[in-house]
Amino acid sequence: MIDSIINVAFCVSSLLTVLILLLPSQYDPRPPSSGEGSSRPKTSVQILVLGDIGHSPRMQYHALSIAKSGGKVVIIGYTESDPHPDLISHPNISIVPIQPPPAFLQTKSKLLFLIYGPLKVLFQVVCLWRCLAYTAPPSRWLLVQNPPSIPSLAVASLSCFLRQTRLVIDWHNFGYSILALKLGSTHPLVRLSLTYEKLLCKYAFAHFCVTDAMRSVLQRDFQLQAPILPLHDRPASHFSPIPDPCGAHRIFETAARSKRYEFEGNTQVLVSSTSWTPDEDFSVLIEALLQYSKLASSNPNLPEILAIITGKGPQKEMYLQKIASLHSAGKLKKVTIRTAWLSMSDYAKLLASASLGVSLHTSSSGVDLPMKVVDMFGAGLPVVGWSRFKAWPELVTEGVNGMGFGSADGLSKHLVELFADSKKLETLRAGAQKESTRRWDDEWNPIAGKLLGLT
Ligand SMILES: *[C@@H]1O[C@H](CO)[C@@H](O)[C@H](O)[C@H]1NC(C)=O
Repeated sequence: MIDSIINVAFCVSSLLTVLILLLPSQYDPRPPSSGEGSSRPKTSVQILVLGDIGHSPRMQYHALSIAKSGGKVVIIGYTESDPHPDLISHPNISIVPIQPPPAFLQTKSKLLFLIYGPLKVLFQVVCLWRCLAYTAPPSRWLLVQNPPSIPSLAVASLSCFLRQTRLVIDWHNFGYSILALKLGSTHPLVRLSLTYEKLLCKYAFAHFCVTDAMRSVLQRDFQLQAPILPLHDRPASHFSPIPDPCGAHRIFETAARSKRYEFEGNTQVLVSSTSWTPDEDFSVLIEALLQYSKLASSNPNLPEILAIITGKGPQKEMYLQKIASLHSAGKLKKVTIRTAWLSMSDYAKLLASASLGVSLHTSSSGVDLPMKVVDMFGAGLPVVGWSRFKAWPELVTEGVNGMGFGSADGLSKHLVELFADSKKLETLRAGAQKESTRRWDDEWNPIAGKLLGLT
């Protein structure tokens, strides 16, 4: 009897010892002793994005801004595409890649999603925990992108608790509203995800969010006590309104994948960047271009349109086939639709040289905003966009730098109006050029820089 009690006690104490030995190292908040003071960074920040770093412009801008202000950054995320070159070359930014989940766990099927989803989450928990709590050195701050919130919020909170790190959540949208697009808003998993998000975000020291509208939702529905600081997206410096008249044709031709693309005198170049997902209904643009084509074929005042669509995503193939069949059936007169995959710098040049940008983003929560419109404004490009959601007016001023629509009819009316009368388009362009002077650092320094103690 006594023997077995001793055995159990021994096992428990060894287990505890192992656990304690395995605890991640903690951040040491003490000020540096005078000797090493000069070389210590002003602060240290882990940035976590459970997504591809290269496709997370806002998290990359955070990293660059922190490093520029004298902080040390470790950015943790997937490395499927090349991150911004400045990120790679900066001596005070390092990247900790997360191992991606095995490909077979990615599924479009709703039924399989319910089985593979939890497996994928389990895999992510293990990989994330390793990167966050062990590979990355202890830091003063952890800035986590939300969504995805599962499992990143939970793992981030635990790691912050054990390592004495302050957690800051950067709200781009809500995890549950994205899940609701896939499963429907009444699905029990969606409700569970909302509860999870509401519960875990309470642990954070502070919050950033992308719109004032989102701030009200966080305050009202999530009842957060910590400060919530709206930090609007602004374009980074590579999006600038400097059209390059010689380069423009080359880029249009590259994008149109045709050396001999015939530019009629006043061809108007339309740019849309899409993620080809269900929350960006591409059929709206196709329908609008079909309507435009019908009107333009009998109205000589309406110019040719070259529509260049950039981006990669799940529904791309389906729409490519549809576009090809419309072209070959001769239904697109005076309209050419081409898809392109451009480097960041070519994309920036394309935006600066095009006539009009189109945004099809419909916003799952109503309070997030499309970053691509921010980039278009950065390049001085006016925008027409899907506007039937609450936060739209925080980004676009109707008739000044862009116009909103709520249907394919609305979009085609705008196209006709703007392309038939170049004065209107010029007015919008002037508005967009003005907008382009508002840059990321101006927004970031007084809000995020101040919170992190960098300014
Ligand atoms: C990197 O951080 C150190 C402090 O740790 C600082 O002295 C140095 O200037 C920083 N480098 C750059 C390029 O900002």
